[in-house]
Amino acid sequence: MAVERTLSIIKPDAVAKNVIGQIYTRFESNGLKIVAAKMAQLSQAEAEGFYAVHKERPFFKALVEFMISGPVMIQALEGENAVLKNRELMGATNPKDAAPGTIRADFAESIDANAVHGSDSAENAAIEIAYFFGK
Ligand code: TYD
Repeated sequence: MAVERTLSIIKPDAVAKNVIGQIYTRFESNGLKIVAAKMAQLSQAEAEGFYAVHKERPFFKALVEFMISGPVMIQALEGENAVLKNRELMGATNPKDAAPGTIRADFAESIDANAVHGSDSAENAAIEIAYFFGK
């Protein structure tokens, strides 16, 4: 299996809930190493740029508003199959559909305030890591 990297964001709802440490423990106890991290208050332009792929979707405006509503914790995670592993730990986009024991099942309230972001492919992971951490 390949060692790869993925981009993770702990979103404003989860930061406000004071569960950064609990989410980091899930990464670390499942073989994902935090290799870069920063807390940030995203600007509107940064959030719009990050989610540009969704700009035609009906939820885009609300998603950007949510992502700039408070600080986020951004990290690059490294490990075997990191992209898929992180997606498994996160659970489904809608916490109502997320498997028990996943981050979204345990910490998210709704599809629009769903605690975490994780890259969906190795290709996007590279783009997203560069977006926040440069090369
Ligand atoms: P998406 O990339 O489909 O999900 P994921 O975060 O699991 O990769 O969507 C990006 C974010 O957009 C999602 O985390 C929350 C928001 N979103 C909504 O607010 N409403 C929706 O109907 C969808 C599909 C997403």
